[in-house]
Amino acid sequence: MIRKGIILAGGKGTRLSPLTKIINKQLLPLYDKPLIFYPLSILMLAGIRDILIITNPNEEINFEKILGNGSMFGINITYINQDKPNGLPEAFIIGEKFINNEDVALILGDNFFYGQGFTKKLIQQTHKNKGASIFLYQVNNPQDYGIVEIKNKKIISIKEKPKFSNSKLAITGLYFFDNKVINFSKKLKPSKRGELEMVDLFKKYLKINKLNVNLLGRGSAWLDTGTIKNLFQTTEFISSIEERQGLKIACLEEIGLKNSWIDKNSIKRSIKFYGKCEYSNYLKNLI
Ligand code: G1P
Repeated sequence: MIRKGIILAGGKGTRLSPLTKIINKQLLPLYDKPLIFYPLSILMLAGIRDILIITNPNEEINFEKILGNGSMFGINITYINQDKPNGLPEAFIIGEKFINNEDVALILGDNFFYGQGFTKKLIQQTHKNKGASIFLYQVNNPQDYGIVEIKNKKIISIKEKPKFSNSKLAITGLYFFDNKVINFSKKLKPSKRGELEMVDLFKKYLKINKLNVNLLGRGSAWLDTGTIKNLFQTTEFISSIEERQGLKIACLEEIGLKNSWIDKNSIKRSIKFYGKCEYSNYLKNLI
């Protein structure tokens, strides 16, 4: 089975202004790589090779400068514009042709995931072909996210950014859907804030008993990059782990090589492309 992948990399990133006045949020540095490397690595770890990146108008050129058509990493990347951000589910309407008859995974361009055993979970999801799957993570600020309330293993509510909630289980920005998602998205109506909402999409799957929830335990990390402080904290997290282990998080060539999607010659070309830098040194050590 082929599953397609979509990265939503549009948006204004207003909370990160002035940084985002000149550069798209997803291209800002997250420690030693552009932010977009991290969600892209998640799709690659899930075994997904056909990837659509949705960007703001005229911004795809900057993404192309660093990611090209994906062949450096053994994947196919296509780009498409979103004229106005009308809500996350719009990704499935804009991406209809790209998804075609396949299932699809969507990841938000600013989400950071890390944890032992996560790759295994991702691969399992890639091969599931019925319904929708979401990943939940306990947070201290439920008012900032989509929140699921669960009682006796049953979902009792799904709310977008609730002011008050009995639950701290946030819906992370990584979603797996079967092909029905295209039609479901087309039927959604804008919410009070004038956008199509993911939570409304989940409710449709819940209604037909096809919403799977996966809990990411406390041993894993789902970190935010939405504010300057969060971006800085996530940078520190990555720098601590990478320096301690001497291993990189989200090295796209490393994942491509492990998946046998690229060979050593391809890594050599990447080294040339990046030039003399620490990332290139890391690539040299891989081969
Ligand atoms: C979006 C979703 C929200 C989800 C969050 C994860 O919020 O609407 O349900 O919890 O992403 O990052 P936004 O970042 O658009 O405010």
